[in-house]
Amino acid sequence: MRLGNHRTKNPSLGAMLLHEIIRAPREIGAVFPSSVRLGDTMAALIGGGEEGAVVELGAGTGVITESLLRSGIAPGRLTVIEKSEPFACYLAQRFPHVRIVHADAGDWPAELGQTAVKAVVSCLPLRSLPASAVARITATWARSLASDGRVIQFTYAPFGTSAWQDAGLRRIGCETVWANFPPARVEVFARP
Ligand SMILES: C[S@@+](CC[C@H](N)C(=O)[O-])C[C@H]1O[C@@H](n2cnc3c(N)ncnc32)[C@H](O)[C@@H]1O
Repeated sequence: MRLGNHRTKNPSLGAMLLHEIIRAPREIGAVFPSSVRLGDTMAALIGGGEEGAVVELGAGTGVITESLLRSGIAPGRLTVIEKSEPFACYLAQRFPHVRIVHADAGDWPAELGQTAVKAVVSCLPLRSLPASAVARITATWARSLASDGRVIQFTYAPFGTSAWQDAGLRRIGCETVWANFPPARVEVFARP
């Protein structure tokens, strides 16, 4: 999808976040950006290897994107899917060497072709999105995972199962990041 003219408006990031929270609260699902510690924790959970596509779903203000790049993931391996046009435009400006796709995460992006995905890093607020949208998103990306692929998801819910398990994945890890407001639980899922 073509990115619009937010490129030239350049509102402050805080104002953009506030605007997006008011416009689509259930899609943003957070009042504060993620912390660097949360981003670094998610990036570390991707595991070794320098091959394979990494996809970030719902990058928002780009905190996690920055951590992924800082952890050593080459920009050419990374694809970011973001539904909000202002955020997608902001991300495209901030990360010119990363493929930023302005789209719904429930739609498989043509840009990825037949790629098997090594890691899906999801910042999507799966507990506040409509159930039908969540089912479409998780089915799309669970199907795309390479045999050794992983999904890494954060949630503010302190307990409970995940929609990724409903999509047939197995939870293989979980840790809490206290240095985030609110504290976040990071879960890792893989094929059974
Ligand atoms: C919790 S926020 C991301 C927080 C981000 N880590 C940060 O620090 O800014 C969730 C993001 O998911 C995006 N989003 C929500 N539903 C989406 C969908 N169906 N497809 C793609 N992105 C979506 C929102 O626009 C928002 O940017």
